[in-house]
Amino acid sequence: MNQHTRIDQRPIPFIDVVAQRRRLGSVIDEATTRVLNHCQFLMGPEVTAFEQQLAAFCGAKHALSCSSGTDALVMTLMAKNIGPGDAVFCPTFTFCATAESAALIGATPVFVDVHADTFNIDVESLKSAINTAKAQGLKPKAVIPVDLFGLPADHDAIAEIADAEKLFILDDAAQGFGGTYKGRDIGTLGHATATSFFPAKPLGCYGDGGAVLTDDDELLSILKSVRIHGQGADKYDNVRLGLTGRLDTIQAAVLIEKLKIFRDEIVTRNRVAQRYSKELKDIATVPVVPEDYESVWAQYTIRLAPGKRDMLAKALQTEGIPTAIYYARPLHRQTAYRQFPVAGNGLPVSEQLADEVISLPMHAYLDEPTQDRIIDAVRRALR
Ligand SMILES: Cc1ncc(COP(=O)(O)O)c(C=O)c1O
Repeated sequence: MNQHTRIDQRPIPFIDVVAQRRRLGSVIDEATTRVLNHCQFLMGPEVTAFEQQLAAFCGAKHALSCSSGTDALVMTLMAKNIGPGDAVFCPTFTFCATAESAALIGATPVFVDVHADTFNIDVESLKSAINTAKAQGLKPKAVIPVDLFGLPADHDAIAEIADAEKLFILDDAAQGFGGTYKGRDIGTLGHATATSFFPAKPLGCYGDGGAVLTDDDELLSILKSVRIHGQGADKYDNVRLGLTGRLDTIQAAVLIEKLKIFRDEIVTRNRVAQRYSKELKDIATVPVVPEDYESVWAQYTIRLAPGKRDMLAKALQTEGIPTAIYYARPLHRQTAYRQFPVAGNGLPVSEQLADEVISLPMHAYLDEPTQDRIIDAVRRALR
């Protein structure tokens, strides 16, 4: 570029919920108005309709909507009676809620390392973490694989170990719902799958929300109870501990409309990611999608040497291009999680990734001129 060419510096959103809102337009107003008119703000007809549609979307037998992705994880662990003395294995390179869910119910999260190329659980580290837990007198009970940044974990490899150790598999698909693994949909890969409808997620609502997907009839029935204070015959018959775990009817109404365009948005997100990778692969380590996997690109994350990463973030910021670092600190290095065990041979890959990762703007409404602006700015900064 000629040095006298004026660089466009208008701010680009990292995730453009406004553009999606524009596309959806009046259908959202009509859907929410219907709820405002019938006034069944909790457990209204939209909640059941959405649950059926969500289950059908991924091919799970059941979907149970709830108050957040974190609550989807917590409620499932509660429903499985997991608690003190139990080890729950999860990656350290993830959002805190993955491990928080186990710690909140008194179980012990045991941290596992990830692969540098997929950012997802390394099964060799999982095996080592199981030995660590046993050596500390903990009972291995569950594994929470995370489909980080939208890419499915290696679910077959995880299931093989889980089967051998009789671990319950709770897939944390807060970022990965909508993705596919060897022709199977996320939502059908674990014994249960938790997802989040936080507004910035690939399938987000207009507040907090989440869901559990499962084929297990018994688990569903316990989850229904946990969702409403451990109710038995009714809300005032309390047969177990539970919480206020419902999804608002208004959010279900919003999600019904968003689910209709979700497939189309996944296609567009993949188009954006492919273009980024094609244009940036010679100057940065671009994300790997193994054959037969489909990501929903909750984040588009590249890797650079630490000095270069921070320089890139600053350079893009001056041009109105936001970046984010997911995650600057793996969970085992966080104050709240430092006391929990880590896989015996350490978590070196997660520590390295924390120094190298940087995510670029990613959403389904990133048009080609804006993609070009980002690609061009990254290339200039790294040249
Ligand atoms: C991997 C992961 N797990 C769990 C959650 C928790 O979801 P929520 O924010 O809906 O509680 C999130 C999102 O924030 C997440 O990214």
